[in-house]
Amino acid sequence: MNALPPTLIDRFGRRVDYVRLSVTDRCDFRCVYCMAEEMTFVPKPQVLTLEEHFQLAQAFTELGVSKIRLTGGEPLIRNDILSLVKRLGRLPALEQLVLTTNGSQLQRMAKSLRDSGVKRINISLDSLQPRRFRQLTRHGNLDQVVAGIEAAVAAGFERVRINAVILKGRNEDEVLDLVDFAYRRGIDIAFIEEMPLGRILEHDRALSFCGSAELRAIISQRYSMHALGDPGGADGPARYFTLPGSTSRLGFISPHSENFCHLCNRVRVTAEGRLLLCLGNEHSVDLRAVLRSPHYTPDSLKQAIVAAMAIKPERHHFNHEAEPEILRFMNTTGG
Ligand code: GTP
Ligand code: 5AD
Ligand code: SF4
Repeated sequence: MNALPPTLIDRFGRRVDYVRLSVTDRCDFRCVYCMAEEMTFVPKPQVLTLEEHFQLAQAFTELGVSKIRLTGGEPLIRNDILSLVKRLGRLPALEQLVLTTNGSQLQRMAKSLRDSGVKRINISLDSLQPRRFRQLTRHGNLDQVVAGIEAAVAAGFERVRINAVILKGRNEDEVLDLVDFAYRRGIDIAFIEEMPLGRILEHDRALSFCGSAELRAIISQRYSMHALGDPGGADGPARYFTLPGSTSRLGFISPHSENFCHLCNRVRVTAEGRLLLCLGNEHSVDLRAVLRSPHYTPDSLKQAIVAAMAIKPERHHFNHEAEPEILRFMNTTGG
């Protein structure tokens, strides 16, 4: 008889049914809020193989996880990523296979991703001005990403969402243009408050912080917005609004101004196989050690995951005014 519980529940009664797998910490961009200019990446042998990622996904789905989001770094620059996507797409218990990307590879990959079972896709886009886009991403090419977004729309994902991080004095004047961009294409857009992950020198996060309430005030000058209910659950941490006469939804992810930790249903696995129990805390378990142990069995992996629920923290404590407490960058964490 299998003694493992079929679901993952933490000490606070929260059910974990959503896992974010960071398949690489590498990225072809260096967004100013996410990375430092010079980055050291994890040496390849320490990164999980695609087979190990699949074993993880299988274990999680057998423990009641029904949604997996592939993230990075940039997940689509991982060699042969489609082979993993295809295998995940066939996992019987996985209801939602979704992906977060910077869009640079979507022109060539959107259709195959859709055909392999990816249902929804989130694409970062912080500016519609080519020079500014380049400054914010340090390496990105706006035309390439916009073409990638068009390819995603054409590929027929259930939902396509733009992710925009708005920084004061950098791109706050583009909020309405970004909403228009999404609205015209009938796709969603989410505005994300910057989180203090990793030490960056490029800007002062206390000065650049732009809260969701301020953005809502700007947008309501042009659009009447209707709230769609509370964040959490299947819809993730975004608080969504509808826009008149459109299928577009407008979301706000507000880890500072409207903490949503009590609704948290997710855990993350870094590219090195560290199970992170919270985005804003260091509590973690080394699943790579379990996967690479000579005593590894699928059950030993599941046992380690079940045991980890006991250390999932209650909440994060982000503070823009202080030095970041979390020194890992977002590309390590997987968003
Ligand atoms: P869904 O949950 O599927 O709606 O997606 P998402 O919004 O979580 O995914 P995405 O990868 O697009 O992330 C958007 C932003 O939300 C990123 O900046 C993430 O870091 C942030 N985010 C996602 N989950 C959490 C969380 O549990 N806590 C906090 N503070 N931020 C999160
Ligand atoms: N704060 C908020 N969002 C961030 N992202 C990357 N770094 C940060 C940060 N420090 C966003 C990216 C991407 C998503 C996965 O996370 O813009 O859309
Ligand atoms: Fe790369 Fe995404 Fe980080 Fe930008 S936010 S540097 S695209 S991982």
